Amino acid sequence: MPNTSKPEAPVKNLALDLVRVTEAGALASARWLGKGDKNAGDQAAVDAMRLSFNSMDIMGKVIIGEGEKDNAPMLYNGEAVGTGTGMAMDIAVDPVEGTNLLAFGRPNAISVVGMAPGGTMFDPGPSYYMQKLVVPAPARDAVDIDAPVEVNLKNIAKALGKDVDDLIVFVLDKQRHEKLIKKIRSTGARIQLHTDGDVAGALMAVDPRSEVDVMMGTGGTPEGVIAACAIKAMGGQLFGRLDPQSFVEKEAIQEHGIDIREILTVEKLIKSDDVFFSATGISGGTFLRGVEYTGTGAVTHSMVIRAKTGSVRYIEAHHNWERLMKISSVAYD
Ligand code: FBP
Repeated sequence: MPNTSKPEAPVKNLALDLVRVTEAGALASARWLGKGDKNAGDQAAVDAMRLSFNSMDIMGKVIIGEGEKDNAPMLYNGEAVGTGTGMAMDIAVDPVEGTNLLAFGRPNAISVVGMAPGGTMFDPGPSYYMQKLVVPAPARDAVDIDAPVEVNLKNIAKALGKDVDDLIVFVLDKQRHEKLIKKIRSTGARIQLHTDGDVAGALMAVDPRSEVDVMMGTGGTPEGVIAACAIKAMGGQLFGRLDPQSFVEKEAIQEHGIDIREILTVEKLIKSDDVFFSATGISGGTFLRGVEYTGTGAVTHSMVIRAKTGSVRYIEAHHNWERLMKISSVAYD
């Protein structure tokens, strides 16, 4: 049947503006690679990204940022960013996702931002931790977050047309995952243990270019929402459930009125298809290459996504210090 619907005029792809924000964060923080000071690296990224956000024609509101206003002078939860014109947008930003990865020069520290129309992004409130099961598109209907690990891995392998011992599972190397790791090993599946960085882990699980097939375990709740922005476009699924790690956290979530038992999916975390996402590599990794300083400038590598169209772009940008410094005291363009 011919398609008689009127084609929509192309609208601005805000992800192409967002990439300048994450590039700015990566360029500023990569100077701190391996220097053992995670706060300095994070602060450098926050300052650069805040400035860069201000050139965007949006009425942005930070839903997931550096924390509450009292502790975070910039990019705090609730802060308004952008020029104040254009669309109202909810923003989830992590200037350095994997601050320890940066401080110790380990792979996969990235600068990330997700953005969705105002009022559509899940606000985690006082929730810090979420159990996550992230699978690529072909396996999205094959898993159940409540099923035993062995059953899920068997079903994922089947959906991907592999044997269980072909699979690679991304798991954060944390004490709380001791039992999970044992169970995964008992199935014969292979494991990548990472000290930090489960946004990159979630993206690797859904990215067909990566060798990772699935991510399992508990990580940050804000990181879950950020990952959901990208997964919306890439077509996999994130099943999550809040997983408070202390009594205080559990009580705070309940007081906030969030249902701890609810199974959260990408659709519940971001209630719109009009989502934008950008990530720029800080330290080199299997996921994105890191910032390379060239003497006269730097090269950055980013992944830029618009969920509505499903377009995923990999952008290599060459930045020239001399020209940039003529227009700005901060190295971003
Ligand atoms: P930071 O960038 O805030 O240091 O977070 C890194 C990270 O590894 C996340 O990727 C992950 O979701 C979270 O920390 C896990 O928290 P914890 O280290 O407390 O287990």
